[in-house]
Amino acid sequence: MKTITSREKSSPRTDKRSRRATVHHNGNGNGHPTPSASRGASREVTAWLARPKRNLIDGRWVAARSGKEFDVLNPADASLLTRVPDSTGEDIAQAVQAARRAFEGGPWRRLTPSERGKLLWRVGELLLKHADEFAELESLDNGKPRAVARVADVPLAADLFQYMAGWATKIEGNTIPISVPYAPGARFHAFTLREPVGVVGQIIPWNFPLLMAAWKLGPALATGNCVVLKPAEQTPLSALRLGELLLEAGLPAGVVNIVTGFGETAGAPLVADPGVDKIAFTGSTEVGRLIVRAAAGNLKKVSLELGGKSPNILFQDAGDLEAAIKGAANAIFFNHGQCCCAGSRLMVEQGIFDDVVEGVAREAKKIKLGPGLSDDTQMGPLVSEDQLKRVTNYLHQGKAEGACYVTGGGRAGDRGYFVQPTVVKDVRPEMSIVREEIFGPVVVAEPFSKEEDLINRANATEYGLAAGIWTRDLAKAHRIAAGIRAGTVWINCYNVFDAALPFGGYKQSGWGREMGHEVLEHYTETKAVVLGL
Ligand code: NAI
Ligand code: MG
Repeated sequence: MKTITSREKSSPRTDKRSRRATVHHNGNGNGHPTPSASRGASREVTAWLARPKRNLIDGRWVAARSGKEFDVLNPADASLLTRVPDSTGEDIAQAVQAARRAFEGGPWRRLTPSERGKLLWRVGELLLKHADEFAELESLDNGKPRAVARVADVPLAADLFQYMAGWATKIEGNTIPISVPYAPGARFHAFTLREPVGVVGQIIPWNFPLLMAAWKLGPALATGNCVVLKPAEQTPLSALRLGELLLEAGLPAGVVNIVTGFGETAGAPLVADPGVDKIAFTGSTEVGRLIVRAAAGNLKKVSLELGGKSPNILFQDAGDLEAAIKGAANAIFFNHGQCCCAGSRLMVEQGIFDDVVEGVAREAKKIKLGPGLSDDTQMGPLVSEDQLKRVTNYLHQGKAEGACYVTGGGRAGDRGYFVQPTVVKDVRPEMSIVREEIFGPVVVAEPFSKEEDLINRANATEYGLAAGIWTRDLAKAHRIAAGIRAGTVWINCYNVFDAALPFGGYKQSGWGREMGHEVLEHYTETKAVVLGL
C-alpha cells in the first residue's frame, strides 16, 4: 500500500479528490485496510466491508487495471469504511466491451420478456430479503438515518425493480394504417417494434445511492439494454452489493457492469466512449452540461436528472396549519436537504408568514442530529467534507448579504459533516441562497400577497423540478399547479414518490423522465417496418 504518488499530486484533478481520497495500490491484496469498526454496525456488514472491493465486469469481480483504490469514508466521523477500485478509462473501456458483447449475443438476448421480468422481480425480492443490511450500508456510506433508509430507500428500490418487472412483457409497438399518396393502389402492412437502445452508461449521485441505481437499472433492463453503471465516488457501496444480488438473481455476465471511480477519471471516459449508445445521468446541472457536450462525439442519446430550487407555497387557507408546517419542514429537511426536489424556497402568504416561519424553525430545532446508525437520529451528517464546505459557504454568503437566520446557520459540532437545520428570512431574489441549489438543510422563506405575482416569482428560477402547494381551495390549487413550470407538483403533500409516477425536470432541471412508463421511451428505439403486400 502506498500513498499519493507525485504523478497523482500533479494531475489536474479536482480538490475534491485530493481531499477525499488517498490513493492506494492494492497489489496482491496485502495491506487491505482493516476498517475502523463503525460503532453500531452489524457483524454481517462489518464482514462485508472487510472483504476486498472490486468492479463487476463481465460477471466477474476485478480490481482496477492500475491496481489503485480510494477510500470510502463514514461521513458521521470521517473514519475509513473500506476502499474501492479507483477506475479509469481502461476499466471503463473493458466494461463497455463486456456490455457490448452481452448485448450483441449471448443469453441476455435470448431471454424471453417474461424471463427478463421474472429476473427483475427476483432482484426486488432479494433486496427486501437483505433490506436491513442495505439500510445499514446506505446509512454508513451516505450518512442518512438507518431507519429512514429501511422504510424509504430500500423498499422503494425493491418496488422499482418489481414495477419494471411488469413492463418487461409490455414493451409493444403499433400496427399503423398508412396511405402513401404517391403509390396509388399499393398496399402495405406497417408496424413498429420497440427495441433496446443498446449499451447504456449510467452515472448516479450519492444522495440516494441504492435508489438511484434502481431508477437507472430497472427500466434499462426491463427494455433489454446492457449497462455500465458508475456510482458516485462518495457512496459506491450499495451499488457493489446490489451487483452481487444481480448475479444471484441470475443476470447473465456483462449485462450490468459496475465500475467505481471519480467523475473526471471514470465518469468522463464513460460519457466519451463511442461504444456507448446512451448516457443516463443524475447529478449537478454543471456536470449535466459537460455530459451534453461530451456526448456529441457519437451523438449518443442523453437523459438528465439535474438540480432544483423548488418553491413550496403555503396559503393562509391551508386548513390544518400545523400539518402544513410539518410538511414544509419535511420538504426541506428530508435527507438533510440533499434532494434535487427539496422544497428549498418556502413561499408563505403574508398574513401567516411569521407563524409559519416560527413553526418551521421550531420543527428544525427539534431535529435530533447524530450518526445514521444511532436509533434516535433524525438527521445524519451531509455526505462529504466537500458538501459540508459547499453548504456552509452558502450560509456565510447569505449572512454577508444580510439575510436573517431564524435558526441554524452553520456547522453542527466539529466531528463528521453535520450542518444545523437552518431557516432563513429577509432574503432578496438576487441572493445566491435564493437562486442556487444549496443541497443542504437550509430553507429560505419569503412572503407573498398576490396570486398573480406568486406564479411569476415561483417560476423565477432556471430550474423546474418540483413544487408544493398547500391550500384547501381546490380551484386555486389547480390554477397554481397549471402555472408552475416543473415536472412534479405536490398539493397538500410533499416528497411523494412512486415507481409508477414519472419524475424529472422542466428547464435546466433535466431532459426526460425517470420512472413510470415514460422512462421506457428513453431506453427504447422505435423501428418502423413496412411490408409491401
Ligand atoms: P456531480 O454532478 O459532480 O456528481 C454526480 C455524479 O457525476 C457522480 O457519479 C460523479 O462522479 C459524476 N461526475 C462528476 N463529474 C463528471 C464528469 N465530468 N463526467 C462524468 N461524470 C461526472 O455532483 P457533486 O459534485 O457530487 O455535487 C455537487 C452539487 O450537485 C450538489 O451540491 C448538488 O447541488 C448537485 N447534485 C444534484 C443531484 C441531484 O439529485 N440532481 C445529486 C448530486 C448532486
Ligand atoms: Mg462534482
